[in-house]
Amino acid sequence: MPEASRVAIVTGAARGIGAAVALRLAYDGLAVAVLDLDEAAATVSADAITSAGGVAIALGADVADPTAVQASVDRTADELGAPTVLVNNAGITRDNLLITLTENDWDAVIDVHLKGAVLMTRAAQAHMVESGWGRIVNLSSTSALGNRGQANYVTAKAGVQGLTKTLALELGRFGITANCVAPGFIVSEMTRVTADRIGTPWAQYVHDRAQAIPVQRAGEVDDVANAVSFFADARSGFVSGQVLYVAGGPRT
Ligand SMILES: NC(=O)c1ccc[n+]([C@@H]2O[C@H](COP(=O)([O-])OP(=O)(O)OC[C@H]3O[C@@H](n4cnc5c(N)ncnc54)[C@H](O)[C@@H]3O)[C@@H](O)[C@H]2O)c1
Repeated sequence: MPEASRVAIVTGAARGIGAAVALRLAYDGLAVAVLDLDEAAATVSADAITSAGGVAIALGADVADPTAVQASVDRTADELGAPTVLVNNAGITRDNLLITLTENDWDAVIDVHLKGAVLMTRAAQAHMVESGWGRIVNLSSTSALGNRGQANYVTAKAGVQGLTKTLALELGRFGITANCVAPGFIVSEMTRVTADRIGTPWAQYVHDRAQAIPVQRAGEVDDVANAVSFFADARSGFVSGQVLYVAGGPRT
């Protein structure tokens, strides 16, 4: 791995897409703070980076808790240096048709995706503004375009796109870009749980979903990590406020 020259925070990086993004950014030469609700799993993720010759720390925090968020950003700055790359990836699903959607499930999903992204960005942007440079990459989803049984998640992921465009407008003058990566169907624990919930065997679920994707395969976590890496790169400074669908086909 190259020597670390910048510092990134990746939320929800204990597993799945976040873990792949953290590893990829470390290969790109960044020191990475691996933040997750599950601190033990975050430590495993951070250890994988350090074993491969990279620089990483693990942080246990809930992105929807302002005190924990500020403490995590402070610790990153103290131990690794000013965080100038932020990937807001932490996410949950609590799927239900509107008729059975509980207020708790609405609040939980909106809190993690939207409040979490706002709190993390507000805390990290102070370092980016001071550095005169920054990259914010937010995880949206093809679900932002509407999806049956996901009113809470769809609203959150559409909101993430609006938030991203607003961050691009507000922070551009400080050398900071903000972009969204919006994955389609990606093989991860999150989609495995969905298959379990609807009672379809995992292999059948992946096969059926792949049939409906133009490139005829399911997405892998590295497909998403590659897109995040592009937006986080120093050479991508004239690309801001964009939504890149990583879905094996077009989306409007
Ligand atoms: N898997 C897909 O098909 C898919 C598609 C589109 C978008 N996404 C989005 O990509 C992101 C990652 O998805 P994934 O499939 O890797 O999910 P995942 O469930 O495998 O991993 C999510 C991680 O986020 C962490 N997390 C959850 N709540 C948190 C909180 N409050 N604070 C800190 N960490 C928290 C979890 O502990 C977990 O490690 C999510 O934002 C998701 O909505 C996923």
